[in-house]
Amino acid sequence: MEFSELIKARKSIRGYLPKPVPRAVIEEIIEVAKWAPSSMNTQPWYVHVITGEPLERIRKGNTDNMLAGVPPKRDFPMKESYEGVHRKRQIDIAVQLFDVMGIAREDKERRTDWVMRGFRQFDAPVSLVLTYDKYLEPAAISQFDLGALSHAIVLAAWERGLGCVINGQGIMQSSVVREHARIPDTQNIMICIAMGYPDHEFVANGVKSVREDASDFVTYLGFDAQK
Ligand SMILES: Cc1cc2nc3c(=O)[nH]c(=O)nc-3n(C[C@H](O)[C@H](O)[C@H](O)COP(=O)(O)O)c2cc1C
Repeated sequence: MEFSELIKARKSIRGYLPKPVPRAVIEEIIEVAKWAPSSMNTQPWYVHVITGEPLERIRKGNTDNMLAGVPPKRDFPMKESYEGVHRKRQIDIAVQLFDVMGIAREDKERRTDWVMRGFRQFDAPVSLVLTYDKYLEPAAISQFDLGALSHAIVLAAWERGLGCVINGQGIMQSSVVREHARIPDTQNIMICIAMGYPDHEFVANGVKSVREDASDFVTYLGFDAQK
């Protein structure tokens, strides 16, 4: 697939076939994705690839904690609520997803089910947990590097017929993930990526999110002199 076609075609996948992903395919994806750039080539990432029983334990731990009302806790500070245009875009994508799923605003039970799906890693057969060394804090630049790696992973996966959703939900109960994924105390958990073969019958997988016009966020300077 042409790169421009690939990057525009990729979308988040939130429903998966119960089909294992061969380790060799994941290794290939990571071999490609590791060519992502990083600040001063520090490559500050670790990728913990989890499937099978340990992933089941993470799903259960996340679900149990959420149902017990254990407040989510991440390894790094983050803004919990968006404002203005960011809030609007957050709501827009939620509305798109709930609309296709036929989940009404007042249907608390199905809304909760949907949220719990995220904590179960969308029942994906694989989850990749991305971490970085704790000593790097304040780690904004390293977190940026992990973002670059994440995008490369989801694109390389898409090229191979695999779907992904980068998600914060799966690692919000960071102590659960740390325990079952055996993540050393020296690392901070940044994000996870659910991965698997897309279930094309799952309607939320049909949602295509929107993007702003480039003219809304790009400023060009000094081009007037170009003939
Ligand atoms: C850092 C990050 C965190 C995300 N967390 C979640 C999440 O917790 N749950 C979820 O359903 N999607 C999550 N997403 C997916 C976004 O909602 C999605 O990328 C966005 O709506 C654009 O849609 P697209 O990926 O289909 O282009 C996350 C994406 C990123 C980059």
